[in-house]
Amino acid sequence: MAELTQAGAQLEAAAERTARRVERAWGWAMGAIIALLLAVMVFTTLHWGMQPPSSVESIDSTRLQLGGEFSEANLGTSVSSNGAVTVRVLAQQYAFVPKCIVVPADTPITLRAVSADVVHGFIVQGTNVNTMVVPGYVATLSTRFAQPGEHRMPCHEFCGVGHQGMWAHVRVVAREQFPFEQAAKAAVNCER
Ligand code: CUA
Repeated sequence: MAELTQAGAQLEAAAERTARRVERAWGWAMGAIIALLLAVMVFTTLHWGMQPPSSVESIDSTRLQLGGEFSEANLGTSVSSNGAVTVRVLAQQYAFVPKCIVVPADTPITLRAVSADVVHGFIVQGTNVNTMVVPGYVATLSTRFAQPGEHRMPCHEFCGVGHQGMWAHVRVVAREQFPFEQAAKAAVNCER
């Protein structure tokens, strides 16, 4: 009887050692995954200039066309009296307004985008501009285009049957070609 009890105790001790070992291994694995995710976050923030989606700034998405910052005349690129360049974009099923954005190269740019209906995606290929445009909020990002060129701007958030046709372009022009004076009076795009 005593022998049986002793064998049982030995088994139990062995089982506990195994459990401890497995738990420790999982603990290290989880720790490594968390460390890797943090490292990726720090790397993308510092190296690629990634930004959190936006400051939380809300807006009434049902009244955008009725005036205010995102009324039609204000969509596009504007230059304020202190020389700051701001691009205002409206995303709606299934187009961006304006569909061709023009900006000066080597200039700090603030992008402000809103949605008139559902969630859309806002990405400028080859840059750090990448966010969602959520109805009810203003998505704000800052960027700088180093050189003149064309960038594609596809909607990258599934927004309905016309999603794959929802595209815009960003045309980066040399500073001396950008109509600063005109953009100080009214928003400009590739066409005006
Ligand atoms: Cu808009 Cu997909």
